[in-house]
Amino acid sequence: MSAPEVEGSLLDPEIAACPFAHYRELHEKAPIHRMPETGFYVASGYDDVREILSDPVTYSNNSQLSQRVGESAAALGRVYEEHLADLGWGHVQTLQRTDPPDHSRYRRLLNRALTPPLVRAMLPDVERITDELIDAFIDRGSCDFIAEFAFPLPGKVIAGLIGLDDSDITTFKAWADAMLAPSQGLLTNEDTARHYASLEAEAQHYMAGVLEERRAQPTDDMLSAMVAPPDEGDAPFTMHELQNLMNQLITGGYTTTADAIGNAMLLLLEHPDQMELLRSDRSLLRNFADEALRHSSSVQGLFRRTTRDVTLSGVDIPADSIIHVRYGAANRDPAMFDAPDRFDITRGNASRHVAFSRGPHFCVGQPLAMQEMVIAFDRLLDRLDDIALAPGATLERAPGFFLYSLVSLPLTFTAR
Ligand code: HEM
Repeated sequence: MSAPEVEGSLLDPEIAACPFAHYRELHEKAPIHRMPETGFYVASGYDDVREILSDPVTYSNNSQLSQRVGESAAALGRVYEEHLADLGWGHVQTLQRTDPPDHSRYRRLLNRALTPPLVRAMLPDVERITDELIDAFIDRGSCDFIAEFAFPLPGKVIAGLIGLDDSDITTFKAWADAMLAPSQGLLTNEDTARHYASLEAEAQHYMAGVLEERRAQPTDDMLSAMVAPPDEGDAPFTMHELQNLMNQLITGGYTTTADAIGNAMLLLLEHPDQMELLRSDRSLLRNFADEALRHSSSVQGLFRRTTRDVTLSGVDIPADSIIHVRYGAANRDPAMFDAPDRFDITRGNASRHVAFSRGPHFCVGQPLAMQEMVIAFDRLLDRLDDIALAPGATLERAPGFFLYSLVSLPLTFTAR
């Protein structure tokens, strides 16, 4: 059958800012829905989403989406790419944009670079950075949690991963913002496209220098593992590939984690009973992080391309269609999660969420992101009491179709 119609669209900024009523309608009437404006198929049911994510042969990550966006966006994207190629290393498709077996080669390398021992070795730094950020605002009794905590924490952690001093967060933020600009619709004209491309090129030259240093004198850090001789049978990575992998680590690990921390704090503010439960029982921290990611997923959806005709939930989808895989909706599917709109940090199956995806592209940074969330909230609850939304604060979500991000979160609290 063809895809059923529903009212409303994820492209409507009001729906994107709070998509959950729309998800309920999709679950009831159209688990596979075709967006009339774009022709994309939206997959919202948990079982369909899992099937798509676990079959990279049928559902390709090489979505060729950039060739399908509007002409002006595509033209500005080309200006960015050309300028970057002139000044640094033009983008090549690696990792998230590739399918097995190419993808498996990238993934083997990254699994070697972000190992559990490396993540464990980073924890003292994550704790130190967390405490330093809290030190900076604790005496004031108020802060903007997004600007002063949720963003700088993962920013400083990734800055450390790429060999920057974590005090140099301003440089890191400018580089990361530039790398994110093309996907966040910030290339408004040729000047902005060239401006962001030259910032990314600056970051690339810095990283090329550090990568070459590690090649000559390896340490036990992530960059050394990335330039170490590959496993038998694997070709070594070119500088183009290394640059693209670094871009994905930075763009994949920064705003996603910041949004997760911001959304989790808002959920605690909206559910004071859950905040008190977590305060009194820290063994729930990990389940809390999973439940927050399930309930308010940072990445609400990404894309796949069908490589053959398929049928999902009774809907026929032709080969070469774009499927918008809506992780955030799958995480609210009542067929999988009982009373899915309820935020419950003791939920038994919270960790079955797909906020970090599933299958071969499962988030490579998940262990690090989970540790950052656990440490952040453990220290925040240790050091702050009476955490509340500042009087008169209004909540605003960043515009956008994929990410679920708070612009600011003004808080008041007392020091413990
Ligand atoms: C709460 C925080 C995070 C969330 C919600 C998140 C979410 C995701 C999702 C949904 C994907 C899957 C993409 C797909 O299905 O095609 C992904 C992949 C990825 N993530 Fe994360 N991520 C987070 C943190 C991180 C961190 C901290 C890093 C790195 C330091 C990172 C690096 C990556 C990379 C490189 C990929 C591509 C993996 C591949 O294609 O094999 N992420 N992430």
